[in-house]
Amino acid sequence: MTVTPLTIAIDGPAASGKGTLARRLADYYHLPYLDTGLTYRAVAHMLVTRGWPLDDEAHAIEAARLVDLSGLDRELLSAHEVADAASRVAVIPEVRRILVEKQRGFAAGPAGAVLDGRDIGTVVLPAADAKLYITASAEVRAARRLRDIESRGGRADLAEILADIRRRDERDTGRADSPLKPAADAHLLDTSEMSIEAAFQAAKAIVEDAVAARDKARHTG
Ligand code: C5P
Repeated sequence: MTVTPLTIAIDGPAASGKGTLARRLADYYHLPYLDTGLTYRAVAHMLVTRGWPLDDEAHAIEAARLVDLSGLDRELLSAHEVADAASRVAVIPEVRRILVEKQRGFAAGPAGAVLDGRDIGTVVLPAADAKLYITASAEVRAARRLRDIESRGGRADLAEILADIRRRDERDTGRADSPLKPAADAHLLDTSEMSIEAAFQAAKAIVEDAVAARDKARHTG
């Protein structure tokens, strides 16, 4: 039994499985879910389709203002060129500020929410009820991404995916504003050797413990 609102922050590097876990937790707890990566992807996609350079800050800021959380098209934004472009616009502090504000608005609904990204536990929702940091080795993440592409009828090269993942990890952990890192109070979950089901059970146990601790603190406080 959990008391609402319930906010769950999930962070981790590209292809760590955090999206799958976030979606399953949102289903399980009947919470709205936001993949914040899509907001950065939407900005990048807008720049690319309008022929604006990715380091054009003024246009990136304008694009961030235009992002509508209810109109994010996962199919359209899923290409890995968009992901790479997203990690480039994500270094612009004003773009982050605008998107973070929208993301916080989403989480402020009456039920709470599950958000996943790179800075949810550290910046977007520092007071989240439960924080998870999902990792897996770069090799495992690349193999998962390849399987995912192939299962949808696509083709890709494992070495290229691995290089792409490493490049994005470096950009995401190395940027000055809101770098990817676990919040001090985040629970680490390494899914390298776990099935999706085992990872979900582990994530659920972490959330249950965090919520029990929260509710206990409320009752005694
Ligand atoms: O999660 P996803 O792969 O869709 O994210 C694309 C890029 O957007 C990431 O590589 C990262 O640079 C950026 N991002 C971010 N902060 C978030 C979510 C995504 O900087 N909360």
